[in-house]
Amino acid sequence: MMVEKLVLENVNKVYGEGEAAVVALNNASLRVKEGEFVAVVGPSGSGKSTFLSIAGALLSPSSGRILINNRDITNLSAREMGYVRLENLGFIFQASNLVPYLTVLEQLLLVSKLGAHSGKKAEQKAKELLEQVGLLHRLNHYPEKLSGGERQRAAIARAFMNNPEVILADEPTASLDSKRGRAIVEMIADEVKSRGKAAVMVTHDERVLDLCDRIVTIKDGALYEKQENCAFRS
Ligand SMILES: Nc1ncnc2c1ncn2[C@@H]1O[C@H](COP(=O)(O)OP(=O)(O)O)[C@@H](O)[C@H]1O
Ligand SMILES: [Mg+2]
Repeated sequence: MMVEKLVLENVNKVYGEGEAAVVALNNASLRVKEGEFVAVVGPSGSGKSTFLSIAGALLSPSSGRILINNRDITNLSAREMGYVRLENLGFIFQASNLVPYLTVLEQLLLVSKLGAHSGKKAEQKAKELLEQVGLLHRLNHYPEKLSGGERQRAAIARAFMNNPEVILADEPTASLDSKRGRAIVEMIADEVKSRGKAAVMVTHDERVLDLCDRIVTIKDGALYEKQENCAFRS
């Protein structure tokens, strides 16, 4: 059975009120299946981060419905959304968002403790992941001693630590050169394919789109499937 890991239905998001209201998402719908890697592409200000924050249970929509792993998370409390994030989601942000005063190994153990899989097993898993991303020799380094590419690889390992069903990446290649950027996106694609995860990456980096299964464009908060968008070409 094909499982839908992430579903957004008719999601609207309005920031502010009255004169100052900004419509950031306009009736956005997306369904992502197990084993599927979807890119959401659009210019700055089009609503990409808002979309990802709502898909990632970091922000509530103004209206619409969100399901993660078949569970409706639309009306959960902030505390319950926190559990959903820890149990189901792995985040990779543009700025890698590492904690400055923790070593590479500690970054991974921190999320694992929060997810309540602590101890020796967690440390072993963390080391395996860091080996997978080529950072075993950087275990005890602090973020400031790492290159941009190494930081982003540490963030990827951290995102995979709790074995999330859904991986969400916000412009993960933005601070990297094209070779390192591509390596990061390949790691996400591998995880999706080899372990049957689902991933959504928002980006405006055209160079990595061939690694995704599906491309959705976003414009003024509305989503369009690329095929429809390009139908006039065929
Ligand atoms: N917290 C906020 N309050 C008010 N407006 C916001 C907020 N966050 C984003 N916006 C506005 O919503 C729109 C979409 O922003 P965003 O989702 O960050 O787009 P992107 O990630 O594509 O650059 C923009 O017009 C932005 O200015
Ligand atoms: Mg953004």
